[in-house]
Amino acid sequence: MNIYQPHLMTINKVIQETSDTKTFHLTFQDDSAREQFNFKAGQFAEYSAFGFGESTFCIASSPTRTDHIECCFRNVGKNTAGLFALTEGDTMGFRGPYGNTFPIEQFKGKHLIFIGGGIALPPLRSLIWNVLDLRDQFAEVSIVYGARTVDDLVYKRELTEWEEMSDVTLVKTVDPGGETSDWNGHVGFVPTILEKEFVPSPDNAIAIVCGPPIMIKFTFEALERLGFKQNQMITTLENRMKCGLGKCGRCNIGSTYVCLDGPVFWASELAALPPEF
Ligand SMILES: Cc1cc2nc3c(=O)[nH]c(=O)nc-3n(C[C@H](O)[C@H](O)[C@H](O)COP(=O)(O)OP(=O)(O)OC[C@H]3O[C@@H](n4cnc5c(N)ncnc54)[C@H](O)[C@@H]3O)c2cc1C
Ligand code: FES
Repeated sequence: MNIYQPHLMTINKVIQETSDTKTFHLTFQDDSAREQFNFKAGQFAEYSAFGFGESTFCIASSPTRTDHIECCFRNVGKNTAGLFALTEGDTMGFRGPYGNTFPIEQFKGKHLIFIGGGIALPPLRSLIWNVLDLRDQFAEVSIVYGARTVDDLVYKRELTEWEEMSDVTLVKTVDPGGETSDWNGHVGFVPTILEKEFVPSPDNAIAIVCGPPIMIKFTFEALERLGFKQNQMITTLENRMKCGLGKCGRCNIGSTYVCLDGPVFWASELAALPPEF
């Protein structure tokens, strides 16, 4: 089989998350592909709108929920515009899963602090539901999520759901100026909130951070000031990719291929990479 040939997927559901962001629920059209498919939290795939190209998105649904696959994407360019125009019942392409995974076995018994920024909630969301579906295997679960404005928060319905769970702490924030008159969360950048409003202890904790590179950098620095070690901080990178398979050389940092060796990296692994991160 051609490794670049996508599976045909039916879009069963479309959710408009924000003005430029949508969630798709997808199912395989081929029965044997559906039966054979499995993945783990942290992995990504290539999603295509025919005639436009391919885009790399994480798999945003949890591996504990196998009924369908979800992706959540922002309309930023050629292929995402093609995908954005699709609707329920349409067909699109999917190939994957690719990349490494969050080491969930190492997270067992720990206080997990999920820290996300903007459109980077989808990779965390896969792991969050994975953990919540196995809730008794973990200690505390905290979710700190920030976006530029209230409008830019994705998965608003699930933020409410997590907020109402007695065994989850949800801390939501928007950048200064991004709040509305009825906003009931914090106002401030995520690293500032971590140092001033919701200050996590590093004891028995793992921080899982997803966001734009600048947010990851400042969040790691804030966590280090709180006493977190590099082996307690993990993230996923979103370097530009094309093949997803280690063939095209688009995603590498030195000899590290983000599509093969990542996208999930511990802070200690990032510190060992050449300085372009
Ligand atoms: C592992 C991984 C997971 C990702 N997960 C998601 C996700 O869940 N949801 C989501 O919305 N996006 C995600 N992205 C980013 C996504 O791949 C790009 O936004 C998308 O491919 C753009 O496709 P396009 O054809 O519409 O854009 P293009 O027309 O190719 O480009 C539009 C603009 O976006 C810029 N751009 C394209 N790709 C990237 C990138 N990777 N980083 C920074 N700028 C970029 C281009 O430079 C250009 O300015 C992920 C990327 C990676 C590598
Ligand atoms: S995306 Fe082609 S080598 Fe990584």
